[in-house]
Amino acid sequence: MGQEETIAILDFGSQYGQLIARRVREHQVYSELLRYDTPCAELKKKNLKGIILSGGPASVYGAQAPRCDPDIFELGVPVLGICYGMQIGCELLGAQVTTAQAREYGSTKLQLTTSDSLTAQLSGEKVVWMSHGDQVNELPNQFKSLGSTATCPFAVVQHKTRPFFGVQFHPEVTHTPCGSQIFRNFLYDICSCSGTWQMGNFIEQSCSTIRTQVDSATVICGLSGGVDSSVVAALLHKAIGDQLVCIFVDNGLLRKGERENVESTFRDHFHLNLRVVDWSERFLERLAGVTDPQQKRKIIGHEFIEAFRDESNRISDAKFLAQGTLYPDVIESGKKDGNPAANIKLHHNVGGLPEKLGFELVEPLRDLFKDEVRVLGEHLGLPEAMVWRHPFPGPGLAVRIVGEITKERLGVLRDADEIFLEEITAAGLYRTIGQGFAVLLPVRAVGVMGDDRSYENVIAIRAVETTDFMTADWVHIPYEVLGRISNRIINEVRGVNRVVYDISSKPPATIEWE
Ligand code: XMP
Repeated sequence: MGQEETIAILDFGSQYGQLIARRVREHQVYSELLRYDTPCAELKKKNLKGIILSGGPASVYGAQAPRCDPDIFELGVPVLGICYGMQIGCELLGAQVTTAQAREYGSTKLQLTTSDSLTAQLSGEKVVWMSHGDQVNELPNQFKSLGSTATCPFAVVQHKTRPFFGVQFHPEVTHTPCGSQIFRNFLYDICSCSGTWQMGNFIEQSCSTIRTQVDSATVICGLSGGVDSSVVAALLHKAIGDQLVCIFVDNGLLRKGERENVESTFRDHFHLNLRVVDWSERFLERLAGVTDPQQKRKIIGHEFIEAFRDESNRISDAKFLAQGTLYPDVIESGKKDGNPAANIKLHHNVGGLPEKLGFELVEPLRDLFKDEVRVLGEHLGLPEAMVWRHPFPGPGLAVRIVGEITKERLGVLRDADEIFLEEITAAGLYRTIGQGFAVLLPVRAVGVMGDDRSYENVIAIRAVETTDFMTADWVHIPYEVLGRISNRIINEVRGVNRVVYDISSKPPATIEWE
């Protein structure tokens, strides 16, 4: 990836940092989110076409204000400052930033005075999204103003002699409809990017990097059937063919047909060397009588590692382990050491592998966002249903059976879940739902079946919309679809006489029930 044209985004702690990176990539330009104080010596090592300074929560006149290397203006590439990034850039180039008389949050009207360079193709009044308490109130002579709002006199600025541009608003959010044009102007007209960041190129480059890294050694990949591990497996298979061995652990907590799907896709279609290890009996034995969710997770996590270790020990000359680490995970871990951008993200990393299994890691998705991974999966010929699959937790159905896990209860949940997924797919809702599933509750409800009273299980249906899985809202599934789901589950799944729909948002509820 070394020679790819790159836009560096210096992250001052913006909640929108990743969004800026994605917007740039949507314009076929590779972008990297870096610490705000990344030294110019580091930046020079990249094929840098431009720099974006992100927003951030600090005030540039505060004692602890995060500052970038002032020499970024000497690198000979254009710089675009967004919100705090505009303020820090303006300040470094001689302007003064003060508290705004009126704070501006939300949608605002921007009046453009010129339609040039950063504002080319745009003119007149535009709706933009603001979120600031400070602003540039006096603009020195070396700058020119390109636009203003009612309370922000310099909402778009340009330095007259240096390639620096600033916008006080957030062009990266969808509430700024003209934001895409602003990025296009910056990337293509101002930074002269050629727009070559494409999945086809990525596959070629990535395959050759993988081949160089692993040479003739065997690579093991833990395949779960989820998007990330499936894409990693398909990509590695393309790069090194039979040198790749995939391990799929059947923990007995999978959904209906899941193991068979993975087998038919990877073994029958891709002809990949797949080892399915059936540890279901052992998992279920260890879980017998356990009702505490964290205890379930602990047992499952432990057994999974045992199963994986056991099988990988049987594979001779395995030297590498392939993992589906994504760019957001890399950014998160890079944020730990004192970057103000550190945000709280609790990973439920249960159902994964420990760092020390004694293998060297191959992580071909490290530079990609989730949506890019899906596009890559499509390019590699994975089935649509696999590429667009909802996330499924490592502990599987164990955390969707509230209470004790038994074979019989797993059977009931599997059948109900399958019907639910079939119906939301048939109604064209699958792709609009972030995550959807059935849950088996630990209560029995009274019902009537024919002339008899029944006393049977209750299934809860959960469907949420979310972008980051940190917050989520329940989906307003049409009543007719809910009706069909309920009818089918009650009629077709033995042992269920009641279906309820979960209408809780996260927070305070979580997505899973356990
Ligand atoms: P919650 O339930 O905390 O879930 O709102 C957020 C996301 O994380 C998934 N999840 C897990 N994934 N192991 C995993 O690999 C786990 O133990 C686990 N618990 C929850 C959940 O499905 C959702 O996508």
